[in-house]
Amino acid sequence: MSETETRIVQANDEEMKEAVREACGLLRSGEVVALPTETVYGLAADAFNPDAVARVFEVKERPTFDPLIVHIGSWPDLKKVAVVPDDIEEAVGQVTSEFWPGPLTLVLPKHPDLPDLVTSGLPKVAVRQSGSKVFRAINKELGSAIAAPSANRFGRISPTSAAAVEKELGGRIPLIVDGGACREGLESTIIEILPREGKKPIFKLHRAGPITKEMLQKFGKVEKVKEKVGEAPHAPGQLASHYAPRTPLTLLAKPEDFQPEEGKRYGLMSYRGGDSGPYVDLHEWDVVEALSPGSGKLAEAAVRLFFVMRQLDEAGVDEIIAEPLSETGLGVAIMDRLRRASVKE
Ligand code: TXA
Ligand code: MG
Repeated sequence: MSETETRIVQANDEEMKEAVREACGLLRSGEVVALPTETVYGLAADAFNPDAVARVFEVKERPTFDPLIVHIGSWPDLKKVAVVPDDIEEAVGQVTSEFWPGPLTLVLPKHPDLPDLVTSGLPKVAVRQSGSKVFRAINKELGSAIAAPSANRFGRISPTSAAAVEKELGGRIPLIVDGGACREGLESTIIEILPREGKKPIFKLHRAGPITKEMLQKFGKVEKVKEKVGEAPHAPGQLASHYAPRTPLTLLAKPEDFQPEEGKRYGLMSYRGGDSGPYVDLHEWDVVEALSPGSGKLAEAAVRLFFVMRQLDEAGVDEIIAEPLSETGLGVAIMDRLRRASVKE
C-alpha cells in the first residue's frame, strides 16, 4: 500500500463547517476518511461507490466476506438502502423512533441498488443512523449513505479517539475528522427483527452493545444467537478473535485461577482499581489500569474499555489479565468484547 499523508482536522463548533466540507469533498471523489461516531470511529466511504467501498476493505485489510454497516443521514434514506417488510414495519418504526439517531443497527433486506460488496454479497444489510452530530452533518451534506466499519485494522482494537485512529491507519488515509472521544465507546448493538403472529417480534441479537437487552425488551423478545467463542462465526463478521491487543489477554474468571509464570510481566485490567481488592491483591502487577476508577460504573467502563486495552497493550507487559464484570446491562457488551479479545489465535 502506498504511503499517504494523513491530515487530522478538528470538528469543534467553529471548525465544523470546514471539516464537513473537506470530508464530503474527499468522499465524493471516492476516497475513504475516518469519522467520529458516538460509538467508535468509523472508516467511511460513499456506500453507493463500489470502488470506494473496496478501498475500505483494502485499507483495513478486512476480508471481503465481512460485511459493512451502512449509515443514513435521515430516516427517509432508510428506504434507499433497505427494504422494510410489511410484517416488521411497525417494530422498525418503534425501535427507530426510540433509539435513532443512536447506537442500534438493524439487519434488514438489502435494497437492490446498494452495491453487493457492502453486504459481502448477502441479501441483508446492517443499517443505522449515527448519534454523532459531526457524522450526521457529513452524512446529510454528502446526500448519500455512508458505509463505515470501525476505523481499525482488521481484528484489532476499535478506536475511540482520533489519536487511536492515527495509530491504526495513519499513512493509509488522507483525513481523520477529530470529533473528540466517543461517548459510548463500544460498537452499536446489532439486531435482526423476526415477526411473530399476534406477539411482540423476536429481536435476534447479532452483537451486544450500548442499547442493552433491558432497553430493547419493551419492544420485542431479545434472543441471543448461540455461539461459542473459538468456533466458526454464527453471523457474518462476528469472528471470535476480534478487538484484540497484540499482547495476549486472559479473562480471569476467578482470582484463584491465576498462576503467574516466573519472570513474566503482567498488567491488570481492573474494574475499579484502587489499593486493594481480590484482583489487585493477587500479584505485584507491573501496571494496573482501571476501567471505572473508584466508583465502578458500567457506563464509564464501556467508554474507557478500548482506551484502557490500548494503554495496557502499549505498556510492554507479557500478558494482560482482565477482571470479569457482572453481566447485566452494559456489562453484557463489555464482557463480549473481553471474551473476543482473549481468544488466542
Ligand atoms: O458502532 C458501530 O456499529 C461502528 C460505527 C463505525 O458505526 N461500526 C462497526 O462496524 O462496528 P464493524 O464493521 O466493525 O462491524 C460490522 C459488523 C460485521 O462484522 C458484522 O458482524 C455485522 O456488523 N454485519 C454487517 N452487515 C451484516 C449483515 N448483513 N448481517 C449480519 N451482520 C452484519
Ligand atoms: Mg469492527
